[in-house]
Amino acid sequence: MRATLHSSQWLSRDVREVILSPHESLSYRPGQYVSIARTDREPRCYSMARAPSGDNRIALHVRRWPGGSFSDVVMNESRTGDEFDITGPLGTFAFPDGVGPVVMLATGTGVAPFLAMLESALPANASRPITLYWGGRGNEDLYAQDAIGDWMARFQRFRFVPVLSGRGDGYVQDVAAQEMADPANTHVLACGNTRMTDDAFARLVAEAASPVASFASDAFTPATYESGASAAAALGPDSSAQSVVRMHCGGQCLQARAGETVLRTLKAAGLPVMSVCGGKASCGTCLVELDAAWSERVPPCSRTERSLLSCLPDAGPLSRLSCQIRVTQELDGLALRLPSNNPTIKELSV
Ligand SMILES: Cc1cc2nc3c(=O)[nH]c(=O)nc-3n(C[C@H](O)[C@H](O)[C@H](O)COP(=O)(O)OP(=O)(O)OC[C@H]3O[C@@H](n4cnc5c(N)ncnc54)[C@H](O)[C@@H]3O)c2cc1C
Ligand code: FES
Repeated sequence: MRATLHSSQWLSRDVREVILSPHESLSYRPGQYVSIARTDREPRCYSMARAPSGDNRIALHVRRWPGGSFSDVVMNESRTGDEFDITGPLGTFAFPDGVGPVVMLATGTGVAPFLAMLESALPANASRPITLYWGGRGNEDLYAQDAIGDWMARFQRFRFVPVLSGRGDGYVQDVAAQEMADPANTHVLACGNTRMTDDAFARLVAEAASPVASFASDAFTPATYESGASAAAALGPDSSAQSVVRMHCGGQCLQARAGETVLRTLKAAGLPVMSVCGGKASCGTCLVELDAAWSERVPPCSRTERSLLSCLPDAGPLSRLSCQIRVTQELDGLALRLPSNNPTIKELSV
């Protein structure tokens, strides 16, 4: 749908709050995000930073990356009244059900979905212990302290722990793990950079002597995360002929590595395929069309993939998300093509 830029303001030296008015009703759960694009640019994902309020406006917290396509260039050129295309709500990140303590781990603007969750969850869960650990360089990076201070005053079971690298506090996941009294009953949510979310999962679940009751994360994977070069480097040289699977894309023959996703294989071959959500099956930008002969042979869609495909206007019966198909020996010879309306292909042909 289209959305108009209602207003924007700096919350800190590099984070801007952007308020948008969608042209149609947008109902979402705190924790979800939208994909947003100006017509001449690739889309980017941003989490809603406020709970739904009935005015059909959404607030996004956009951290500025110098030279960043959306966070710097588009934001600098945008003015009140400008229009964008938004897709959403997307994602399944949500406040956990139950009664056990909730621990929120955020780095930078990873706090955005937590602010939305806290706004709606605190009044409804006054007796449930909720702790927000928020990491930044210095106190000036932790920009939402008025709202947080207000919640601390009103809700006794809510704790806020700033974790500042500038004063040597360490990492949010380490501080939280050290303070966690009862992991088996604690529900953990992590949001922010991929290094933190991966490390938190390893520390609190995969390698933990006593894993936490539940763990969910939303990593702010950069859209440029898997450039062709980095995907190719990650795949490495063809050391084992056994594990190499042939794939055909639009007349080009590619070598895929068993175990990798089709998306990564396409990127490693330098093909113009995007992955705005970083492989979460929620943006649809990695769409491919299978050759009809392969539609029954590729493992079927998961519920998440099917549900996204059903909302994508460009998806047809042979469409799949390339980030969701893992290459196996059974897929040797897999034939597919990029959709003709792939935005990157359009850009290249211009
Ligand atoms: C599900 C999801 C939700 C997200 N929610 C938010 C949100 O609420 N707020 C928010 O600020 N961002 C969020 N992001 C990240 C956001 O979508 C963009 O990736 C980010 O704003 C950079 O986009 P850009 O176009 O400005 O930069 P790009 O043009 O994509 O990148 C330009 C350069 O910036 C640098 N860069 C960009 N991102 C990173 C990074 N994470 N780590 C290191 N270097 C980087 C790199 O040098 C890169 O080459 C989210 C991402 C996902 C997948
Ligand atoms: S990369 Fe977003 S759905 Fe595949």
